[in-house]
Amino acid sequence: MRKITVIGAGNVGATCANVIAHKDLAREVVLVDIKEGVAEGKALDIWQTSSINNFNTRVTGVTNDYLKTRGSSIVVITSGLPRKPGMSRDDLIKTNAVIVKEVTEKVIKYSPEAIIIVVSNPLDVMTYAAYKAARKHSSRVFGMAGILDTGRYKAFLADALDVSPKDIHSLLLGGHGDTMVPLPRFTSVAGIPVTDMLNKEEIDKIVDRTKKGGGELVNLMGTSAWYAPGAAAAQMVEAIVDDQKRIFPVCTLLKGEYGLKDVYMGVPVKLGAAGIEEIIELNLNKQEQKMLEDSANSVKSVMKVLDDMNLFED
Ligand code: LAC
Repeated sequence: MRKITVIGAGNVGATCANVIAHKDLAREVVLVDIKEGVAEGKALDIWQTSSINNFNTRVTGVTNDYLKTRGSSIVVITSGLPRKPGMSRDDLIKTNAVIVKEVTEKVIKYSPEAIIIVVSNPLDVMTYAAYKAARKHSSRVFGMAGILDTGRYKAFLADALDVSPKDIHSLLLGGHGDTMVPLPRFTSVAGIPVTDMLNKEEIDKIVDRTKKGGGELVNLMGTSAWYAPGAAAAQMVEAIVDDQKRIFPVCTLLKGEYGLKDVYMGVPVKLGAAGIEEIIELNLNKQEQKMLEDSANSVKSVMKVLDDMNLFED
């Protein structure tokens, strides 16, 4: 009887629960929110699509009642404020760090064995906050960003090349922010290097648009995106519940890989039943390594803001 909990019934959380249900990834999905009635309502709405969309996963919603999340095998944390136009993800840290800490502690109380997937922003540092609060091995506390960012990158490439996005394979490193590092050298279209198909200028334009992909949507909608973030988190859930051993860019704690330590950020990993089963180290060239280090420094400067809040005893 697999139970999956999604904390936060905002746009991202509700979309994630919806995709998990559509894919029938669990016996039950519990949606939790602090706003009275919102999780209950959205869960009921999703559940009423079950006969239409042909799934069995029971979707339930609760207001702040963590007892109902007891025994979840995976918990997706989407809590926190989203961005408004003009805000960077990092502007959210002070508010969201407190929320993510409290939520993680409550989650762990009822589901001590759960794998935790963080989606709240600023993503890398909120994942680190959840790790500190959960006091679990880092292979079981990680963040969703790379699947979303590569999803955007692949969509832009599919448009530029007029091919199916399904045939595009790519990797991306670094923090979930403007310093992220999409990797054209590790991008192919059905095995054909993308660098053979587009010129440098075209690729640079797509890489740049990818880096600012979240902001593009915030500007269009006045709040941050949800379809791709929710679906990306659900794809991680799927890889874990089916023990798929998928290779995805995931925000994880680095312990010397890529020459970096004590920083949570995106690198390729193998995702399976045990969570992060392996961190994959690519052979980077000097320029890629430098961009990765710049991204790590940017994440570390935000981590310092969290450390200075003294939320956690060591
Ligand atoms: C984005 C937010 C969810 O990139 O970080 O759209």
